[in-house]
Amino acid sequence: MKVLVIGSGGREHALVWKLKKSKKVDKIFCIPGNSGIAQIAKCVNLKIDDFKSLTDFASRNKIGLTVVGPEVPLANGIVDEFQKRRLKIFGPNRKAAQIESSKVFAKEFMRKYHIPTAAFRVFSTAAEAIGFCNSVEFPVVIKADGLAAGKGVVVARDIGQATKAIEDMMLNKIFGKAGERIVIESFLKGQEVSMMALTDGKSIVPLLPSQDHKQAYDGNRGPNTGGMGVYCPTTLLDESLSEQVNDYILNPIMHGFQQEGVTYKGVIYAGLMLTESGPKVLEVNCRFGDPETQAVLPLLKTDLLDLLMAVVNQKLSSFSRLDWRQESSVCVIMASKGYPGKYRTGVKITGLNNVNDNMVQIFHSGTLQKGNQWFTNGGRVLGVVGIDKTLKQAMNRAYRAVHKIRFEGAMFRRDIGASALKTPVTS
Ligand code: AMP
Ligand code: GLY
Repeated sequence: MKVLVIGSGGREHALVWKLKKSKKVDKIFCIPGNSGIAQIAKCVNLKIDDFKSLTDFASRNKIGLTVVGPEVPLANGIVDEFQKRRLKIFGPNRKAAQIESSKVFAKEFMRKYHIPTAAFRVFSTAAEAIGFCNSVEFPVVIKADGLAAGKGVVVARDIGQATKAIEDMMLNKIFGKAGERIVIESFLKGQEVSMMALTDGKSIVPLLPSQDHKQAYDGNRGPNTGGMGVYCPTTLLDESLSEQVNDYILNPIMHGFQQEGVTYKGVIYAGLMLTESGPKVLEVNCRFGDPETQAVLPLLKTDLLDLLMAVVNQKLSSFSRLDWRQESSVCVIMASKGYPGKYRTGVKITGLNNVNDNMVQIFHSGTLQKGNQWFTNGGRVLGVVGIDKTLKQAMNRAYRAVHKIRFEGAMFRRDIGASALKTPVTS
């Protein structure tokens, strides 16, 4: 089968890499891809918001399955357009993708289906929102309704910060239409866990839980980023907590969509806070996580093409469980100096060829190859993944590889996975 992956980051590199291992895959295309992906797939330079060109491409090249990485095309209805032309595509349709594209939709959906999440109020004027903040206990969390590339969430510690966030979103419109409405919710305390599951709308199969590290610097300090590293599996979700997540969060989300008459096919990614009163949902994403995917897929033994086709063809019940390597993985993101703020690109990368370890995978997030030379081409540049028997060994493997790769100003956290070594919970 010919397969097309849409997107250009480390997540898509990992998807292409894993799909390529399937004996049933003859050829993989990636639109637009990146230089790392180009080493294992044919990258095609089309715009990912031009659905006419994408469907024409899939049809002309007899693509058997298209897999969508990022949320924006999903929110804009790429799946609906492919389906109209009877082209098979993995991902939720526009209605289902609202779970990520509108925080107001997601919160009201969770309230309706009794899914545990922070208490919240929705506002459509700045005056009302600020008025409300005059009567709350801080901190509170202020979220733009629409997609804001991961930047639309502010934890406000006092009325000054709350007022600024509300004014930025609603009056200064820093996220455009995405900030026309906002959600203000209570602040939850605990450890965060990323739980991704596949659903065909009728059954749901969880992947391994993982833990992302969102803040830029060691010890969870500094600004929030798209994710600086992940380890998998996390033992923070023991068997009983996993059951709670399945019973009170993942299954109810799937059943909620059934009740709404919407067939949700694709990934349900629940960002969870493990609070003293149980797991609560911080956000639901409608796609694979980045960089969670880079750490989770290397542990999956099951053929990914079979699994994604089962979702698309609504035959997921044939996979009651998945096969996993009984090992751990650690993905360390190497980013450009200045990320998540302003950064320079075109900085020379050396040492990629010095990593000769078959238990290390390097997924490219933002690189550019010119001749034999590699250059940075994004905020997040590389995801270096170590796999080994224990978390500690996987960390050592990943960091040994990271230290062989160099570029000026390379920024990476030195503590990906470290908190888990200190946690008393073990499995
Ligand atoms: P989101 O994009 O909604 O996942 O939010 C980004 C980050 O903000 C999360 O990963 C959390 O660290 C933090 N966050 C979001 N909602 C809350 C909340 N209700 N309480 C505490 N932290 C939150
Ligand atoms: N790693 C966070 C995300 O994919 O949204």
